[in-house]
Amino acid sequence: MKSVQGDGARIAFHDQGSGLPVLLLHGFPLTSESFRPQLDALGTRFRLIAPDHRGFGQSGPASGPTEMSRIARDALAVLDALGIRRAVVGGVSMGGYAAMAMLREDAGRVAGLLLVDTQPGADDEAGKARRAQTARDIEARGTQALVDSMLGKLVAEDCDPAVRAGVEAMIRSSGPQGCISAVQGMAMRPDSRDMLARFAGPALIVVGEKDPITPPAKAREMSALIAGSKVVEIAGAAHLSNLEKPAEFNAAAEAFLSSLPATG
Ligand code: MLT
Repeated sequence: MKSVQGDGARIAFHDQGSGLPVLLLHGFPLTSESFRPQLDALGTRFRLIAPDHRGFGQSGPASGPTEMSRIARDALAVLDALGIRRAVVGGVSMGGYAAMAMLREDAGRVAGLLLVDTQPGADDEAGKARRAQTARDIEARGTQALVDSMLGKLVAEDCDPAVRAGVEAMIRSSGPQGCISAVQGMAMRPDSRDMLARFAGPALIVVGEKDPITPPAKAREMSALIAGSKVVEIAGAAHLSNLEKPAEFNAAAEAFLSSLPATG
């Protein structure tokens, strides 16, 4: 992996292939390896750039809340280091929150959106209280708390056991402090419906049919906000549609990305 010095943390990232630049922002509590099926299959046709968010994977540690704007600025630092002005920005779940934060930071850098199993709203008070409890649980029990509470929601019950095991290993590889920081940061995110409504570029929204965390209704809500956007529902997938059903996901992503100008 390459790396760049972000503000207070080194940010590691994959940079693979050539052509249209596509930035891929991973979900919680995972790493850029969660895009392995895309890096392997689409990295021959597009330039895929996939950072580990601070506190995850090979990036430096997080301290204090990792706000979504922080992840967005780290990703912009990666694009700057590569001399890339504009990229299609793809994000899974928390990565989608960060993609929306990137619109807030500098919408001119976003050539298109690929929003995957995510949602546009902020946490309500009950949601914020759940995040605070999750942070306490991680403090007490480490990432085992996340394996227990999240694994069954991230992938469908009948998911390929190897994929499930890979997701569990990724969760266990995440440091507790990085996870706590991200949980605190997600609780602070603003409502991004206004940013989506203002976005004038192309957008594809993908969602697992059985996603219990950000269900298809959330995908349709985002699509209603972005003129000309399209929703693809992936049959049989839960929250990690790109990992659970890579062939179906990649076909949808490739059709979308191929329809865009190669310059970003
Ligand atoms: C994720 O998959 O990134 C998280 O489930 C998002 C969230 O907790 O809101």
